[in-house]
Amino acid sequence: MSARRKFICGNWKMNGTASEAASLIAGIVGNWKDAYRNVELAVCPPFTALLEVHALVSGRGVQIALGAQNCYHETKGAFTGEISARMLVEANCTYVILGHSERRTIFEEDDVTINKKVRAALSVSLKPILCVGETLDERELNQTYEVLLRQLKEGLRDVSASDMKHITIAYEPVWAIGTGRTATPEIAQNAHSFIRMEIAKLYDDSIANAIIIQYGGSMKPDNAKELLAQPDIDGGLIGGAALDAKQFLAIADAALN
Ligand code: 13P
Repeated sequence: MSARRKFICGNWKMNGTASEAASLIAGIVGNWKDAYRNVELAVCPPFTALLEVHALVSGRGVQIALGAQNCYHETKGAFTGEISARMLVEANCTYVILGHSERRTIFEEDDVTINKKVRAALSVSLKPILCVGETLDERELNQTYEVLLRQLKEGLRDVSASDMKHITIAYEPVWAIGTGRTATPEIAQNAHSFIRMEIAKLYDDSIANAIIIQYGGSMKPDNAKELLAQPDIDGGLIGGAALDAKQFLAIADAALN
């Protein structure tokens, strides 16, 4: 058994005005139980709801961390529309999701850009959740491992061994995101074990054994338990099911056992 603590994180994507976000977090806080202290729970609302969500979490005796869904790599300046890592820290974020496949495809972010963001986040002690994952075409062409290795190597370029304790990896097969088509536990486990093995090669065994590797892609209450039971699946990055407080907490329940 690994000593890794399970980490369940909700990626709300572009869902939730401040008032909608308030009612979602209220549902999570209202149904929170002490046992959740045994897992790491986080939510990543849109930027505009971060302060509202923080206000509704803090001082309630619950342990729910806050994350953002993106940041820019520069610290400040003439970058209209962008948000820096330091701004996110000031907005009470512990985590930032980087390299999500929607950023890679819709917003054309490449591995070099993502790596700059990873290093910018680390420089202000914001913890990156680095997403990697293959498209359906890449899987069908047997390129899955090649793609994962490239995204890992490039995304983690110049990240020191000591900074690796602040990194979470999320394996998100693109074909499973928002499609209802979950990777089987076996497919996911194989990818996770590959990622851990490559981290061991890039760094060392103790870093590889300690790193949290989340699965993301149509994780729901009814498939979470089986996925989370796999030896190298340490949590979930949850999209659709994280928009419903009960479903999100049901996944957290699956992580407790
Ligand atoms: P779904 O859970 O909606 O498939 O989204 C997964 C995801 O992209 C989380 O980052």
